[in-house]
Amino acid sequence: MLNMIRETAEFLKGKIGITPGIGIILGTGLNSIAELLEDPIIIPYAEIPNLQVSTAPSHQGRLLAGKIGSKTVVILQGRIHYYEGYSMQEITFPIRVLKALGTKKLIVTNAAGSLNEKMLPGDIVILKDHINFMGNNPLIGENYPELGDRFPSLHQPYNNEYINLAHNIAKTNDFPLQEGVYTAVLGPSMETKAECKMLAKLGTDLVGMSTVPEVIVAIHSGIEVIGLSVVTNLSNIFHAKAHTQEEIRKNAAKAKKNLALLIVELVKKI
Ligand code: HPA
Repeated sequence: MLNMIRETAEFLKGKIGITPGIGIILGTGLNSIAELLEDPIIIPYAEIPNLQVSTAPSHQGRLLAGKIGSKTVVILQGRIHYYEGYSMQEITFPIRVLKALGTKKLIVTNAAGSLNEKMLPGDIVILKDHINFMGNNPLIGENYPELGDRFPSLHQPYNNEYINLAHNIAKTNDFPLQEGVYTAVLGPSMETKAECKMLAKLGTDLVGMSTVPEVIVAIHSGIEVIGLSVVTNLSNIFHAKAHTQEEIRKNAAKAKKNLALLIVELVKKI
């Protein structure tokens, strides 16, 4: 793994010519946020050694490097998911590479279902904590001390200072920002009503199929994390109806303007 990280980082260093202080991962339906970058260098994942290619619809699979204001940023436009059949190490490999490139801060975004009646489709929610309900962990296996501790502490995976900063940005710009707990499930089948009830009882506000493995590896790597969810659907607690990918993409698009503003302001201030 160490050699693979080195090889991929060396390849990207040669291509992008910057040290990306901040990494941003864009989730389902949020691809267009990548337009925030000024004159980006764009590299399809398929051209990057050791990187797996996303098979999920609406995940473009490109790395973009450039600037937002004075900050150097890498955007991962589209992610690979565990449900696609990749290993936990494969889905979190991009975070290892970002760390090797010099990234110190990570903004992860995702589309999520809501189990909280106050969190409605189109709303933006900043993550304050998470529950790993995937039955797996990206740190299982040999631990390389060069990459991080055997038992990294997750007492505060999402940086509190940045959560407060995000609330201030939302207030100043007059848009609502909620705060919640995200639970990652395996998928790809959506949750049953009974599963939704169980997850809500466990303290879940939002449910999705990503993010948590990336956050665990970011914390293991010593990278500070901000997590942002866009609510794309209400869970089956509130109604018994199938969710379509179209509904999920449409509701993700509703949050686009405010999410872009929030990300730009966060990047400038962190
Ligand atoms: N469940 C799981 N993953 C999701 C959902 C959901 O309701 N919405 C978007 N991603």
